[in-house]
Amino acid sequence: MKITLLGATGSIGTSTIDVMLRHPEQFQAYALVAHRNVNLMRELVEKVKPEIVVMTDEAAYHRLKGTLPQHVQLEYGMDAAEVVSAADEVDMVMAAMVGSAGLPATLAAVRAGKRVGLANKECLVTAGRIFMQAAKESGAEVVPVDSEHAAVHQALAGHDRDSVTRIILTASGGPFRNRDPESLKNITVAEAVAHPNWSMGAKISIDSATMMNKALELIEAKWLFDAKAEQLSAIIHPQSIVHAMVEYRDGSVLAQLAMPDMRSPIVYAMQAEPRLESGIPWLELAQSQPLEFQAIDEARFPAMRLVKGVLAGEDSLAVALNAANEVANQAFQDGKIGFMDIVTTVEKVLGQTHDIHLETLEDVWALDMETRRIAEEIITL
Ligand SMILES: NC(=O)c1ccc[n+]([C@@H]2O[C@H](COP(=O)([O-])OP(=O)(O)OC[C@H]3O[C@@H](n4cnc5c(N)ncnc54)[C@H](OP(=O)(O)O)[C@@H]3O)[C@@H](O)[C@H]2O)c1
Repeated sequence: MKITLLGATGSIGTSTIDVMLRHPEQFQAYALVAHRNVNLMRELVEKVKPEIVVMTDEAAYHRLKGTLPQHVQLEYGMDAAEVVSAADEVDMVMAAMVGSAGLPATLAAVRAGKRVGLANKECLVTAGRIFMQAAKESGAEVVPVDSEHAAVHQALAGHDRDSVTRIILTASGGPFRNRDPESLKNITVAEAVAHPNWSMGAKISIDSATMMNKALELIEAKWLFDAKAEQLSAIIHPQSIVHAMVEYRDGSVLAQLAMPDMRSPIVYAMQAEPRLESGIPWLELAQSQPLEFQAIDEARFPAMRLVKGVLAGEDSLAVALNAANEVANQAFQDGKIGFMDIVTTVEKVLGQTHDIHLETLEDVWALDMETRRIAEEIITL
């Protein structure tokens, strides 16, 4: 199977490469795509020997030029990322760029009918309707890589969809699950990025700390599983062993369990059956910590209150939530706002967003840009 890996230098990207190296007879790299990390890209090229490398950042492309083996073709820009995602030679695209920047290339893969391993949740949050419609038309198989959604996918497999009463995503609660909400005001970036169970990129780690990540995941689940707002919920499970549950009409609940290591959902997205060895540690329940569950306190995690309205509303609210969160998350990383201001900024932006249906990508981008402008304005006030 030939793979194009979008976001090759990221946390998911490098875990995907680990899986590929475990199964060289199954998976070969067609193209590696990244943004700026030239040094890591050089190392990855050595390891998986892709035919093509794309740096979406032009300066990074110039830095890399002339330093790769001769047979590796080097390109730059988002257009090139789209081309290598839709190329005839490609069987599967792993979509692991961060943020809504990942949408064009991932959508190109979907339109070309590829198998798509979807780590980039922003694709569905911003353009879920367009994305899933395109998959339906082209026959592309979209397999989630987010651990919770991969768990739901497995708990749904072979079961009647109409019998589903609830999809329950688990949330670790992040590093501040038990902190006094008052003390959260002075959280530093380093504290917010230090996730207790998962090793991830900065943006998603901060999203986990605010619980905005769970909000985005609920929106993602709505589109992936064609679920209604009232069928979607989340629960805190600090050990991150149970990744999600599906409840059926007869009261039966199917859960998927595994050690928290992204190579498990990654390998499942790459090849569900027969199952492949992923390299993650075995789950030894008798030796593990007790598995705990608790309701999410919306006062501590207001993102969970905000998302209820977004799930029940039209597409525009999800686009605004995502764009405002990206701006606020970055502003927090840049020291411009405090930790608690991230969700407050998103809430203010949502208050200025009309609840409307979006049919085209142009509508999505226009709203995305306008939302970013409003969020920047709120932040600089
Ligand atoms: N990490 C996890 O455990 C996890 C779990 C579930 C879902 N996800 C989702 O997977 C996606 C990737 O997450 P991650 O944690 O792997 O992120 P990450 O470690 O920050 O890596 C992001 C990747 O995207 C590239 N990138 C950054 N900005 C870009 C831009 N403007 N244009 C094109 N490429 C760009 C980066 O390239 P350079 O580094 O070369 O600049 C890097 O390869 C996100 O959507 C996240 O929500 C992640």
